[in-house]
Amino acid sequence: MSQTKSILRALAGETLPTPPIWMMRQAGRYLPEYRATRAEAGDFLSLCYNSELAAEVTLQPIRRYGFDAAILFADILLLPQALGAELWFETGEGPRMSTITDAAGLKTMKPADAIHDHLAPVYETVRILARELPPETTLIGFAGAPWTVATYMIAGRGTPDQAPAHLLKSQDRTTFEAIIDRLTEATIEYLSMQVEAGAEVVKLFDSWAGSLQGDDFDAYSLAPMRKITQTLKDRHPGLPIIAFPRGAGERYVGAHAATGADCIALDDGVTAAWAAGHVQTAGCVQGNLASSHMVTGGDTLVQETRKIVEALSNGPHIFNLGHGITPDADPENVQLMIDTVRGN
Ligand code: CP3
Repeated sequence: MSQTKSILRALAGETLPTPPIWMMRQAGRYLPEYRATRAEAGDFLSLCYNSELAAEVTLQPIRRYGFDAAILFADILLLPQALGAELWFETGEGPRMSTITDAAGLKTMKPADAIHDHLAPVYETVRILARELPPETTLIGFAGAPWTVATYMIAGRGTPDQAPAHLLKSQDRTTFEAIIDRLTEATIEYLSMQVEAGAEVVKLFDSWAGSLQGDDFDAYSLAPMRKITQTLKDRHPGLPIIAFPRGAGERYVGAHAATGADCIALDDGVTAAWAAGHVQTAGCVQGNLASSHMVTGGDTLVQETRKIVEALSNGPHIFNLGHGITPDADPENVQLMIDTVRGN
């Protein structure tokens, strides 16, 4: 059956007259309705595990802006929590976790197929969304890529340079690789369940891919993502997959083939014109407006948005930001970006 949803058409390789659009972190603190629902839930993690309210915040930006895709409201750190890690969020600072730094720590990680009871509320959120989304809106499920999730599990928090994970990789590669392998297996099971619950597309966030150099980038960013995409596509034929090796720079070249993904998400460290010639030639790309324009707005926002739409207009393109929208963004700038993309 030919696709009518614009996101699925772009992911299938079609060049559309107007690129479909959604936005990373589109449900988030810049929206007053999100802040109200999070307050009702109590805190961020309670919101993630409250299926009704998580579905509600997923729907809020769809109602307000009519984005072409909705992304499941959850977090990449729910999976390591399901594997046994302690997880909490320090207000204003971000995530904190118990750490795994040696072979003894590795033993505390549960088997990949033991995650589903803990993650059942996430699957329920997906089921609610599959029922309630407008028929033209595509539902995207997601997980963190193994390297990025491992950086949090090893350091116990976000780090500017992922030094603790790099240290474990050089001091005890066996333990490091066992963590990556367990995360790869668990991510396959997690995303499979999201697809069975109704996710139409899945996205892998490798937010810290840019700190892996040379062979490490191949071995710990690209290869685990390829294993995940291949296994998911075997289990769910035709499933479209987006991969986001953020900070890949020159290594964005060849990323479609190396990850097996249908679409490569671009950060704003590369220009759209460069990506048109070096990445989009291999398939659909997503991105890549700097999220700072959602704070500053104005003519610059309009010009930069048009520049990206124009540069990527000769191939399959999904418009998005280069990274998540920040809490200080102005909701009116989001509307201005959408109107500019859609030519309104
Ligand atoms: O994009 C969406 O709207 C879907 C939901 C989503 C969230 N996090 C909700 C969230 C998705 C896809 C993520 C992915 C995620 N989470 C990543 C990969 C993408 C990226 O941003 O690089 C990472 C690294 C995380 C881990 C994480 N979660 C961090 C580092 C933080 C704190 C930083 C911050 O922005 O506050 C979070 C918290 C988080 N995840 C929030 C939201 C809406 C803010 C929490 C709040 O409401 O207080």
